[in-house]
Parts: sequence; structure tokens; C-alpha cells
Amino acid sequence: RVIGWSAEMASKGGYRHYMLKEIHEQPYAVSMTLSSLSENIEYIDSVVKLIAKADRVIITGAGTSFHAGYIAALLLNRYADIFVLPIISSEAMWWMNSVGEKDIVIAISQSGETIDTLKAVREARRRGALTIAISNVLDSTIPRESDIALYTNAGPEIGVAATKTFTAQVVLLSYLAINVARYRNTLRESEAIEYINSLKNLPTQIRNVLNIYEARIASIANEIRDKQNAFFLGRGLGLPLSMEGALKLKEIAYIHAEAYPAGESKHGPIALVEEGFPTIFTIASSVEGELIRSNIEEMKARGSMTIAVYPKNLEDIEKLVRISIKMPIANDFTVGALYIVPHQLLAYYTSVKRGFDPDKPRNLAKTVTVF
Ligand code: G6P
Repeated sequence: RVIGWSAEMASKGGYRHYMLKEIHEQPYAVSMTLSSLSENIEYIDSVVKLIAKADRVIITGAGTSFHAGYIAALLLNRYADIFVLPIISSEAMWWMNSVGEKDIVIAISQSGETIDTLKAVREARRRGALTIAISNVLDSTIPRESDIALYTNAGPEIGVAATKTFTAQVVLLSYLAINVARYRNTLRESEAIEYINSLKNLPTQIRNVLNIYEARIASIANEIRDKQNAFFLGRGLGLPLSMEGALKLKEIAYIHAEAYPAGESKHGPIALVEEGFPTIFTIASSVEGELIRSNIEEMKARGSMTIAVYPKNLEDIEKLVRISIKMPIANDFTVGALYIVPHQLLAYYTSVKRGFDPDKPRNLAKTVTVF
């Protein structure tokens, strides 16, 4: 069942911008995604079984959708022991040579119309792979041309910078990954149930994060509004979150923001770091935290303005960085939807404080249908 969209859902509803409204709609969007998954449980189950039997999975998408796909690739790899390759859709054509009938290509597109992603789907089908589309727009081209269509049901997204559709994609993909792992017996039943329950708690958790952090992040935006560059560094699940954080800042605040694997940052990017250069670290778990401390030290030693988004139990990070954003502890399946919120708010407030309209970023379109 796909939920219809009313005119009210597409209005600003008292918010200054659509983007801010959509950031605040995330708890609701996630609950809509979860309820549509449970309403279609038999269909979802059949899709889970297909993914569980695949030899290899390619996940493709553009922009924000690619970042959700990258998170899903890490989760499927780690929890379901499946070889998964995340590929940006405009590059997918260079990776399709060995794709065949035993493979699955999952194409993620909020709009369902992005030409690069559509082309990847067409090529995958031509080679006999099973294609699964994940979209937010009913009956859009990519779902129509794919073998299987799954919908996030997050409601209409008007802001050019994707926010609630990203969290909805991450939740849908996490739900699939947990169940694929369960089916492949790589995750214990009791753990799977715990993870599913943690997804159900996400709307409340996101709401709390919004309540607690919004004012604080708005003031952090003052610190970076006059910067020209920023690095977003992370490891593991922290990397796609960094990629998404950097994309948002670039798209709507026009600050050159580059995401890099934290461990790789010493192989080049660090040469750019001087007094006051912002480096924003996203740490999704304690394991990542262990590894990232030395990268923070390296940046600090060059005078970088260090900011970290991290789980609150990693208490020593607070002393290490200049600005700390202590987050509720999350698991690998909830961290994506939760830890992206401060990044979205940071980009939004930085954009507004620089005097731009975050709903209408220059040179960008919500849907890109040219190749
Ligand atoms: C455009 C937008 C991005 C978006 C990307 C993919 O470039 O500016 O914000 O993430 O398209 O869109 P899709 O509809 O395929 O998810």
C-alpha cells in the first residue's frame, strides 16, 4: 500500500523553509516507512529471500541516495556476509562487465527519475541481473523499469537537498539488511529482533536529537559560516555519513567541503590544513573511535578547528576536539538515520546565516534527467 500525498503535506507548514520542515518531519517519515514495511511484510519477505540468495549485490544511486546505498552495502557485508559493491550510478557502466543472472542490482533514487541511475538499471537488466528499485515516488520511471519496486513512503520532499528521504532510505535498507542476515543465519534471531525494535525507536530518538541539538548546532554554524573549506572525516559507517554531511554543506551553504576516509586523510588532504581549517569527524561506534583518535590528533597538531559527532560514551573525545556534539549511543542500523541529523542542521543553519536560500541552491535541480 502506498500512502497518498495531500496538499498540506507539500506546504511549508509554518517553517521558514521546506528543508527545515523536512528535517523536522523525519520522525514521521521514518514511522511511515516502517509501517509500510510491516503492511507489506509478505512481499518484503520475498525480496529479502531473493537478496539472501544472490551471489553478489551492486548498490547504485546518485548524490544522497548513493550515500544511503553505501551505508546499506556496509551493513549487508558486515551482517549478512554478502559481497556488496556500492557504485555511484554515473560510474556503474564501467563496473557491469561481470554482472549476470545470479546478481542483484539495487538502485536507489528518491525521485525515481535520475537518468544515471535509470541507465544503470537498464544495463543491469540487459545483463540478466535482478533489479530492485527503492524510490519515494510511486510509479516513477526507475521503479517502473525495475523487476521489483520498494517505496520509502516518506511523503513529498520539496527541498532540493534530500533529508527525510535519506533517513527513510537508510531505515528501509537497514530493515532489509537485518532480515537478509536473519535469513542467512549470520545474525541470531534474538539480535535481529533487537535491531528491528531499535528501528522502531528511531522516531522518538530523532525527535529528541532535534529538540536537544537544534539551537546548539545553529550556534556552531556561526563558527563555520565564514570558512571557505572543510573536511569531513570518518571511518566505517562514519564515512558515508561524512560524505552526506559534506554534500549538504556544499550544496546549500556553498562551502567547499570534502569527505575523506579519516585514515586516508594523512595521504594528501592534511597538506591543506592550517590554523582554523575545520575538520568534522563523524564517529559511529567505539571501534571507529579507537582508530580515529590519532587522526584527530594529527589535525589538531596543524591548528585545525576540530568538530566531532560521536557517541556520548566516548568521553575522552570531548577533551580532544574543539567542538563536541555528543550523540545518543546508536547501533549500526540506527546510527545512519540518527547521526545525520546534526549534519543536516549544520548545513541548513550555515546556509541561512550566509544569507542563502537552502531550498533553491544555485545550479542544482531536485531531479536530474540529463545524462
Ligand atoms: C540531484 C540532487 C541530489 C540528489 C540526487 C539524486 O543531484 O541535487 O540532492 O541526491 O539528485 O537524486 P535521486 O532522486 O535519484 O535520489
